[in-house]
Amino acid sequence: MAIFKAVLLYLKLYLIGNFLVVFVLAKSVPSPHEVLFSWKQIDYKFPNSNIKEKFLLEGEYIPENNVITGIKVHQNRIFLTVPRWREGVPSTLNFVDFNVTQEPSNSPLIPYPSWEFQELGNCTAIQYVQSMEIDQFGRMWVVDVGRVNTFTNPDNSCPPKLLLIDLATDEVIKEHIFPHSVVNHTKNFLNDIVVGCKNIQDENNCYAYISDADDSKLVMYNLMEDRSWFVTHETMIADPSATVIPILDGNYTFNTNIDGIALSPFDSNFDRVYYSPLSSFQLYSVLTSVLNEAVNGAILNDSQVITHGRTSGQSDGMAMDAVGNIYYGILSNNSVVYSNTTTEQIDETTEVLLVQDDVELQWVDTFAFDEEGYIYMTSNRLHRFSTETYDFSQDNFRVVRVFVGSKSYMYSAL
Ligand SMILES: *[C@@H]1O[C@H](CO)[C@@H](O)[C@H](O)[C@H]1NC(C)=O
Ligand SMILES: *[C@@H]1O[C@H](CO)[C@@H](O)[C@H](O)[C@H]1NC(C)=O
Ligand SMILES: *[C@@H]1O[C@H](CO)[C@@H](O)[C@H](O)[C@H]1NC(C)=O
Ligand SMILES: *[C@@H]1O[C@H](CO)[C@@H](O)[C@H](O)[C@H]1NC(C)=O
Ligand SMILES: *[C@@H]1O[C@H](CO)[C@@H](O)[C@H](O)[C@H]1NC(C)=O
Ligand SMILES: *[C@@H]1O[C@H](CO)[C@@H](O)[C@H](O)[C@H]1NC(C)=O
Ligand SMILES: *[C@@H]1O[C@H](CO)[C@@H](O)[C@H](O)[C@H]1NC(C)=O
Repeated sequence: MAIFKAVLLYLKLYLIGNFLVVFVLAKSVPSPHEVLFSWKQIDYKFPNSNIKEKFLLEGEYIPENNVITGIKVHQNRIFLTVPRWREGVPSTLNFVDFNVTQEPSNSPLIPYPSWEFQELGNCTAIQYVQSMEIDQFGRMWVVDVGRVNTFTNPDNSCPPKLLLIDLATDEVIKEHIFPHSVVNHTKNFLNDIVVGCKNIQDENNCYAYISDADDSKLVMYNLMEDRSWFVTHETMIADPSATVIPILDGNYTFNTNIDGIALSPFDSNFDRVYYSPLSSFQLYSVLTSVLNEAVNGAILNDSQVITHGRTSGQSDGMAMDAVGNIYYGILSNNSVVYSNTTTEQIDETTEVLLVQDDVELQWVDTFAFDEEGYIYMTSNRLHRFSTETYDFSQDNFRVVRVFVGSKSYMYSAL
């Protein structure tokens, strides 16, 4: 018995020792990541195979022009967007069900809320979604650019709009068409959205902030008043000295304005919007009190914009968690880092490496959180889209997650 106890004690100490080693390593080594889904090429769950054949034949589905970018997670559904940058994207807003789907590899995307809603040229339907957000009330805020084929032959026949979809019923419950004076119907690239609903008792007390990467502006929307307006500042424009992104063995040129945005968390009363042009090494922010009070078309003055510091590389999407950590990719390093926004300085010295992988994390595009402490991300090798150099014999598109133990900025950490 005594020997047995001694063995148990030894085992315990051994285990504790190992835990300590793991804990110490965890401080300096990137977190493990899990690839939940991967695709060589994006495919869809068509209503039937005849329709798929017809779409392929008539150029309504051109597989190589389909790239996943936006991601948001709600219960068992992972929502994914496919921008209509070039012809042949049959469905722009979709999901995969990670509880039901048995095919983590090349799983077909399911159009959301329906196939009918993906109809090109029908301005009631959805034309081109880059980003969406899901609020605490189970509503998806869908940003529809309106324009399609924006990289080839832009078709501007539908206006840009914001749709709210109730995820419990999959019904559209609100539509806001952006006026010309707020979002240019022939020039916009509405890119990313964050939403702050300050009062969990009042689902109308919400503001949305949306970046426009074409017109270099930040667009606001007040749900209670059903009103939108915009502000601009020179820090929302691409920095000409930051247009080249070295990725593995190549240099890639992107001249892209304000792109990823993030909102400080619920516990800070959503007081600040963070942003960065894709072509930039800087992270900037502005108080939401300034944005919420601004008149349409206002140019922010320099004292209203904070420059937080120089990050270690260009990034695309960014995301804030409930405790105020901001996450963003370092495109040149196939990695994701985070910084604590409680202090004003956010730069390469405050960045903590979260995850790095030269194969699986080439171009981390957009982030999402679930309610269990995971951060999700899409990686899509986007540098190979503009140069048309995807190798479709390999996995190019992935949904990856990492456990961080925190929820999205929308929730209180308390
Ligand atoms: C997955 O499905 C099982 C069985 O239907 C259910 O018990 C579980 O809660 C589901 N998980 C998620 C994440 O939806
Ligand atoms: C346009 O799309 C909406 C949403 O799917 C649908 O209800 C409507 O019937 C469509 N209109 C036409 C003219 O097809
Ligand atoms: C919208 O952009 C076009 C250029 O594409 C420009 O000619 C036009 O003046 C702009 N309209 C507004 C309202 O800013
Ligand atoms: C990328 O550009 C940098 C800076 O101009 C240069 O030093 C490097 O050799 C280039 N790399 C490639 C693969 O062309
Ligand atoms: C610039 O912003 C500061 C701080 O918000 C404000 O006090 C000042 O009035 C602004 N100046 C102009 C010219 O708008
Ligand atoms: C880049 O990745 C390496 C791992 O390959 C890591 O050690 C390094 O800290 C990363 N640098 C940045 C700036 O993220
Ligand atoms: C962020 O920094 C603040 C101030 O130094 C600190 O109180 C807080 O615990 C930090 N947050 C995290 C998540 O580490």
